[in-house]
Amino acid sequence: MGVAGTGRSERPPGLEKAAWFRTDLALPSQPTLLLREVRPSALVHCAAIADIGACEEEPCAAWALNAGAVAEVARAALESRLRWIQVSTDLVFDGSRAPYRPGDPRSPLSTYGATKALAERLALASGGDALVVRIPLLFGASPTGGRSASEKLVLAARRGEEVVLFRDEWRTPLDAGEAAAALLDLLASDRTGILHVAGPERLSRLELGREILRAAGLLPKARIRETSRLEHPGPPRPEDLTLEASEAAQLIRCEFLPVQERLARDLRV
Ligand SMILES: NC(=O)c1ccc[n+]([C@@H]2O[C@H](COP(=O)([O-])OP(=O)(O)OC[C@H]3O[C@@H](n4cnc5c(N)ncnc54)[C@H](OP(=O)(O)O)[C@@H]3O)[C@@H](O)[C@H]2O)c1
Repeated sequence: MGVAGTGRSERPPGLEKAAWFRTDLALPSQPTLLLREVRPSALVHCAAIADIGACEEEPCAAWALNAGAVAEVARAALESRLRWIQVSTDLVFDGSRAPYRPGDPRSPLSTYGATKALAERLALASGGDALVVRIPLLFGASPTGGRSASEKLVLAARRGEEVVLFRDEWRTPLDAGEAAAALLDLLASDRTGILHVAGPERLSRLELGREILRAAGLLPKARIRETSRLEHPGPPRPEDLTLEASEAAQLIRCEFLPVQERLARDLRV
């Protein structure tokens, strides 16, 4: 099976075997033109402005890519009868009613969450062969080695910076490679609608951060400021985004390792 990837930048390292298409998907017609050129047999739509702060600072750009491009992907996918996944996020919820089931009402607190919530509705309203998969907070290796949340944390701690970790924000974090494998399993299913994929443990941001720093050999030296999400500036942060993911678990063949074990094996920053 051939694989093609897209981005605005050059092909990231490690993806030499994939065909690579450079495009700005936020520009009108680009998603349609790209799909006409590539003619994939299935699609996982990941592109987004996924940084919460960036979405607050540049809301027009966030709406254009996170929702506008999805509307176009949905239309083009329907036309070509394409099986596709819209990758979504636990941040479509406000964190006050965990654990969240796939059918629970959306209640985003941030611009990012709101753009992704609209994207879900656009994907589902198209009536095509679309599956929305909400994934949790990701950690793990990125192609460039400094892009993921866990890599940024380790690099900041290595530079001697104080790192801020919330003791009262709960997630079901998942390794990015495991998330990708799960998405491929779900792409191969014929399920439409919404599914949740969750990591194997419910951890606070503080607990996850400590596991990452421990795996990188940075404890007890790292300077950690344990704090409350309520003290953080910017949009309110959800308290508990635990995802109930039993249905997707039946369809996923790949194994999710406990967080500590996964980090011990894979942390390469
Ligand atoms: N990371 C998480 O914890 C997490 C959790 C839940 C859901 N998600 C979802 O997972 C997906 C990927 O998130 P991520 O964390 O991997 O984000 P990321 O590291 O910022 O990657 C975003 C991707 O989108 C591409 N992109 C951005 N703007 C683009 C544009 N205008 N045109 C074409 N491509 C563009 C980027 O390519 P270039 O770099 O080349 O621009 C990059 O490949 C998103 O849909 C996000 O909502 C992420």
